[in-house]
Amino acid sequence: MKAVELKNGIYWVGAIDWAVRDFHGYETPRGTTYNNYLIMDDEITLLDTVKHDFADTTVKNIRSIADPSKIKHMVVNHIENDHATSLDRIMELAIGATIYITGKGKKGLEKFFDISKWTIKTVKTGDTLNIGKRTLLFLETPMLHWPDSMMTYIKEEKVLISQDGFGQHIASAVRFDDEFVTCASMAELEDAVVDYYANILMPFGQIIKTKLAEIRKLGLEIEMIAPDHGIVWRNPRKVVQMYTDMAGGRAELCASIIYDTMWHSTEQMTTPMIQGIKDEGIECKVIKLRATPMSVAIKEFWKARGCLIGSPTLNNILYPTVAQFLTHLRGLRPKNRIVGAFGSYGWGGGAVKEAYEEFKKMGLETFEPGLQILYKPSLEDETKCYDFGREFAKKVKEYNRKFEEEAS
Ligand code: FEO
Repeated sequence: MKAVELKNGIYWVGAIDWAVRDFHGYETPRGTTYNNYLIMDDEITLLDTVKHDFADTTVKNIRSIADPSKIKHMVVNHIENDHATSLDRIMELAIGATIYITGKGKKGLEKFFDISKWTIKTVKTGDTLNIGKRTLLFLETPMLHWPDSMMTYIKEEKVLISQDGFGQHIASAVRFDDEFVTCASMAELEDAVVDYYANILMPFGQIIKTKLAEIRKLGLEIEMIAPDHGIVWRNPRKVVQMYTDMAGGRAELCASIIYDTMWHSTEQMTTPMIQGIKDEGIECKVIKLRATPMSVAIKEFWKARGCLIGSPTLNNILYPTVAQFLTHLRGLRPKNRIVGAFGSYGWGGGAVKEAYEEFKKMGLETFEPGLQILYKPSLEDETKCYDFGREFAKKVKEYNRKFEEEAS
């Protein structure tokens, strides 16, 4: 894909990774992009680079607009490998360019590159750089999603280069939200935003809330948000509202059942449970872990206000895929969700108990007690499963009502 002009003199010069399906362990069924941006002003400025495999692509795109040796300023918003591993290639071409980066970013660069020949200026929130007709304002955004992270606001154009924030893993021939909605759908774009947030930014909701408030306090008008992955937001209001809601803990009033099974007994428990949930008037999404990418299971957990975890007992503990899911979930520090557990057992049980121990470590609201069934659900057990689902759905509704009252 050739360079694309976002606004007068501001170009996307990034790369599209159509084939990537494993992004450091995170499933990316839609592929992704590595976005970086070139500003043609009195002093030519490049914001971010791309993953090293795509260095040639971005260099070609830059060359289509400007001679890379004329780049005077190199802004590094984030040093993670997918954005900064072409930096040495760019600096070989942009001889004498000055790098702008946070203090923590500079410390990171020292670990990745020999920076002794580079001129580096560290910046902090509020610092500005005049490049001719435009002024860049730097905003530190530590832990969004590495300690070094920052965003860059182009004042005159009202464009926020938001690095990982507001991104999505979407490889697409179009660059803008309105174009994507025409060729795909808003539902798909929203799904990609939630997927990205749930799998990468879930632990940082409080920081996101604080940063959004800081941007509002600074009075920055934002006409365009250009993240380092996926689609550029020509209509940013939608994604800002989505981030406000997600960071505030909002969820859909529905339930999910995330489970695995050995001999289908735990799976059989889900059928009456789903009916019980539905009969309380809320929808239920069902995810079998061995049949679903981990990142999709995480996204579905995050979307629903309540989740039931199903695990057979294997060797007195959780089934391995369920244990893996709960460990991964704990690292994402979920909040504002209610959870319960169920499962079958043949010898002494243990999986359900262990699931609740995991919930406690996460500090999640729990629906107790869990439900264990010996060997295989009987007709009587199926009634217990139905009642379990129905009671859980009642609790989900009650928990959601309290959340909404407190949030309003
Ligand atoms: Fe897209 Fe934190 O890197």
